[in-house]
Amino acid sequence: MTLNNLTLSNRYRLVRAATLALAEPLSAEDCAIQSMPDASPAKWHLAHVTWFFEEFVLRQALEGYRFHDEQFRYLFNSYYNAVGPMHARPQRGLLSRPTLEQVMAYRARVDEHMSELLQRRDLEARISSIIALGLNHEQQHQELLLTDIKHLFSCNPLLPAYARAPAVSSPGSLPLAFRSFAGGLVEIGHPGEGFSFDNELPRHRTYTAAFRLANRPITNGEYLEFVRAGGYENPLLWLSDGWVVVSREGWKHPIYWAPSRDAEFSLTGLRALNPHAPVCHLSYYEADAFARWAGARLPSETEWELAANEASLSGNFVENRRWHPQAAALTEPALQQMFGDVWEWTQSAYSPYPGFRAAEGALGEYNGKFMVNQLVLRGGSCATPASHIRASYRNFFNPAARWQFSGLRLAQDL
Ligand SMILES: [Fe+2]
Repeated sequence: MTLNNLTLSNRYRLVRAATLALAEPLSAEDCAIQSMPDASPAKWHLAHVTWFFEEFVLRQALEGYRFHDEQFRYLFNSYYNAVGPMHARPQRGLLSRPTLEQVMAYRARVDEHMSELLQRRDLEARISSIIALGLNHEQQHQELLLTDIKHLFSCNPLLPAYARAPAVSSPGSLPLAFRSFAGGLVEIGHPGEGFSFDNELPRHRTYTAAFRLANRPITNGEYLEFVRAGGYENPLLWLSDGWVVVSREGWKHPIYWAPSRDAEFSLTGLRALNPHAPVCHLSYYEADAFARWAGARLPSETEWELAANEASLSGNFVENRRWHPQAAALTEPALQQMFGDVWEWTQSAYSPYPGFRAAEGALGEYNGKFMVNQLVLRGGSCATPASHIRASYRNFFNPAARWQFSGLRLAQDL
């Protein structure tokens, strides 16, 4: 039985417990620090997802509900201007108070109220759908908690390991091959069963020419060839904005690679670079430059979704507890790793689908207001909960962002 088939009450309990399990290996000090403005301290994630239920569910559903702490409304509001003012994002790491213990008590208190609410037989459909949104929101923060801790630990000269994972031997790389797709007038977007975010709607028709898509993501070994061939020194391979960033930041390789290029930092500590595993933690600019160097391009999100509809919704997700992308299996001829392992950059700008309507009120700020200057990624990663992902799922990041588990799959015109 998948998580999505459970009662809302059971889903609530499991998702909330999964967040605590991810935070379990962390010390109070680990949870408090913010390593960069893009990342948030684990303690802030733990509190913010809880604030979401207080602000958008308990306050709406329970008459006369009193907030656990009025000041938390300011501290743990992320970006909802309609709700009120908020603490500045780059200063989340300065919040030594409330303590981690107080945040855990906050979670427990809100869970008590939520569990009472979830027992109600007459729970309004409107409230149930906000709870479902809150659970999907919490799963997004579970992934962010991991990617933010990874970045924090990478800044520590001790290079601490978040977790242990058994070493897996990779016998080799699945040969890169391309599969052809006919294209035409096609439909993309969420088909209407189960939960989706508003940005996956409405399902609509769109035209795409015939194309070819690679059978698996690009590996470390292939990306190393690009690095060795001087990919980071050749301006002809880069978008103008990308070249500015590469030059300014002095990028020579993916963010977590050792300068020796034979090791990479991971959630399980520093480990030998596996040439057969998917390359990860690339910015859009790096993915795009590699694709150009390889005589290919990144897929559009329409192309990606058409192919993903034919793939099985399984993969290396966070429940595997590998904490890192794994090499493709050598045996299967079909498309591999469409889901899990690494998010795949597409060349599509994060824009509203035709007919998109954001929700009324503050929750309309969830996705719609970010639909500019970001690119879409598809498929989930080794840090994504399995029940969170689907073929129509649209993730989005700034093109220079590279602290997510982001990689690439090549496409070509037919
Ligand atoms: Fe959030």
